[in-house]
Amino acid sequence: MYILAIETSCDETAAAVVTDTAEVLSNVVASQIADHAAFGGVVPEIASRRHVELIGPVVSEALKQAGIDRRDLGGVAVTQGPGLVGALLVGISFAKALGYALNIPICGINHLEGHLCAASIDGTVRYPHIGLVVSGGHTSLYRIDAPDAVAQIGHTLDDAAGEAFDKVAKLLYLGYPGGVIIDRISQGIACDEIDLPRPKIHDNSYDFSFSGLKTAVLNLVIRSEIFPEMNLRFSGLPQHKEPVPGKEYLVQKIAAAFQAAVTDVLVVKAIKAVKDCAMDLLVVSGGVASNSSLRHALRERCAGEGIELVIPHRKYCTDNAAMIGIASIRHFREGTRASLDMNAVSRWSSLQKRPAGHS
Ligand code: KG4
Ligand code: ZN
Repeated sequence: MYILAIETSCDETAAAVVTDTAEVLSNVVASQIADHAAFGGVVPEIASRRHVELIGPVVSEALKQAGIDRRDLGGVAVTQGPGLVGALLVGISFAKALGYALNIPICGINHLEGHLCAASIDGTVRYPHIGLVVSGGHTSLYRIDAPDAVAQIGHTLDDAAGEAFDKVAKLLYLGYPGGVIIDRISQGIACDEIDLPRPKIHDNSYDFSFSGLKTAVLNLVIRSEIFPEMNLRFSGLPQHKEPVPGKEYLVQKIAAAFQAAVTDVLVVKAIKAVKDCAMDLLVVSGGVASNSSLRHALRERCAGEGIELVIPHRKYCTDNAAMIGIASIRHFREGTRASLDMNAVSRWSSLQKRPAGHS
């Protein structure tokens, strides 16, 4: 069976075709980065409007690349939440219309379940394992005993890791999207002399906190007088400022030190969860899982601890529809079907619970 998967939860309009044997036949992602860059972050209304413009062409391209006609489809999977309601509704409405027109089943998928399932795109993932999702909206640890037995054991108490990356990039006047830029400019930069906090790293929970680290970076930037007339800001329109001559290297060092602090916390907490739960497999996904420093540190630490590590290919870490298609296979197989009443869910706390609109 061919499944068309649609993902529009944030600022990527994505469609993919997968088979019910977990083969990805196409994976098309139209990024809206250029539309949001001037604002330094995703503007929900702009995202919704761009999704409306892009969804048709993106779906057509996904079908074309897969070499199939829409009449060959056996089902449509769509991200139902969590995410921006207006953005989600574009994908959901499209999926409903297509399902109705073709008389095929549709199924709403949890975006985070999609991220966790991205790991099984390049091979089978065994159970049980610990899952870490690190994205722009979420930083959560899951104990996953089976595909349908997923328990969140920890989460961020404030900012998500990706959100912290984006905000720190903004206060360093690096531009948008911040995570990718920090990753790039930190390559090969030694930063041991810069001491930043690792919040909650050795406490007894699996929770995270990144807002204090972000404030520590801000204070350091102000103290170091890197930028002329720096004001206290995390929000507002992005500006461009050149560092004071001679202090350019400090921007790179601070970016690298921030990345190192986030990496340390994520690695320590994830490994603690694996060991405490007496498991030997860690799966890491979400946009921040494409970060070079994190990937490298996870590989080293997991190898040292005898833990098997699965991190999807970078293109499956950031938002995409292939992961939604892969996640949907189990639900289609179990006979889960969405009705035309299916609605967007901005906050979807438990992966186990299915919101209204399905039978
Ligand atoms: O999973 P994702 O594409 O969307 C959400 O579900 O949020 O994650 C986006 C987040 C953004 O905050 C972005 O800055 C971050 O992932 N990100 C990165 C990298 N690539 C994307 N953060 C650090 N290093 C990267 N290479
Ligand atoms: Zn995501």
